[in-house]
Amino acid sequence: MSLPMTVPEPGLPERVTIYEVGARDGLQNEAAIIPVEVKAELVRRLLAAGLPAVEATSFVHPRWVPQLADAEQLMTALHDQIGDAGRDLPVLVPNERGLDRALALGLRHVAIFGSATETFAQKNLNRGLDEQYAMFEPVVARARDAGLDVRAYVSMCFGDPWEGPVPIDQVVAAGRRLLDLGAGQLSIGDTIGVGTAGHVTALVGAFVEAGVPVERLALHFHDTYGQALSNVQAGLRAGVTTYDASAGGLGGCPYAKSATGNLATEDLVWLLDGLGVEHGVDLAALVQTSTWLAGHLGRPSPSAVVRALAGQ
Ligand code: HMG
Ligand code: MG
Repeated sequence: MSLPMTVPEPGLPERVTIYEVGARDGLQNEAAIIPVEVKAELVRRLLAAGLPAVEATSFVHPRWVPQLADAEQLMTALHDQIGDAGRDLPVLVPNERGLDRALALGLRHVAIFGSATETFAQKNLNRGLDEQYAMFEPVVARARDAGLDVRAYVSMCFGDPWEGPVPIDQVVAAGRRLLDLGAGQLSIGDTIGVGTAGHVTALVGAFVEAGVPVERLALHFHDTYGQALSNVQAGLRAGVTTYDASAGGLGGCPYAKSATGNLATEDLVWLLDGLGVEHGVDLAALVQTSTWLAGHLGRPSPSAVVRALAGQ
């Protein structure tokens, strides 16, 4: 299989963590319900490919995201198949009901997901901005008391389909509030993929300026306008060491019009390999997984690297 020639760029982090969201962000938008066995196999394959964090599903209201209504069955199946490691797979929980469901299964990593804009908070969570923090506060407090690790997402950080450009100060204020609730890591989301590299530099810089250590930041890009890799490069130059990506480039948010595929994990791995930044992921295994999943979904992967390497 082809691999890029490694030519390191001075000053970049030596190693990054790829946080795989394919089983959750990737699948949540799929209209046809995917069998739970296929989802479990996807998660197992992603772990086997060396991905250190594989977000498995969401404990949201099943009417809001029907594709993930099988969250309990999936996590139970995974626990049966991979044992205790199944408890370390992160899941989304929007509220205390979601947390209760995760706690009942003994899960150890949860993620809340807030919005930087009022409109998306309403569309995605049925709450205004202030109400979203009130909803998350007991979730984070109880999760931390129970010894769980909590990640926070903040969405619409680079633009919002209803509100247009989102001021950097507004994004930093939203992210800070989620971190102040007690989340350990903040994933900065370009939900609709409109961001560009200079914007990434400015936003990460503004978080650091506001006192948030760069180690606590993750970047979550959607590739709607083909900017995701260039945005990763800007993130690397700013010292960010965690990147969210979705195997095969699947994904989108059902509550954000114009949210298309996430940054494909394979495309990210190709860039990191070329730059000599370590990540620990087996590209060939990942390409095989995305090709296998594309067969189940009945359409080819949108990832350029999967298309280039499939069959090699
Ligand atoms: P709501 O309708 O306001 O809920 O939805 P509620 O609190 O009024 O409760 C109504 C009923 O729902 C109650 O039942 C609750 O028990 C039940 P009843 O008493 O009427 O019988 N309920 C639940 N049931 C199961 N699990 C739950 C749950 N919560 C309430 N967790 C809610 C509010 C937050 C639940 C809803 O808006 C929701 O589920 N939203 C999720 C939307 C979503 O998943 N979006 C995609 C993920 S975000 C994303 O993709 C962006 C990201 O990738 C980053 C980026 O790209 O920017 C993360
Ligand atoms: Mg997303």
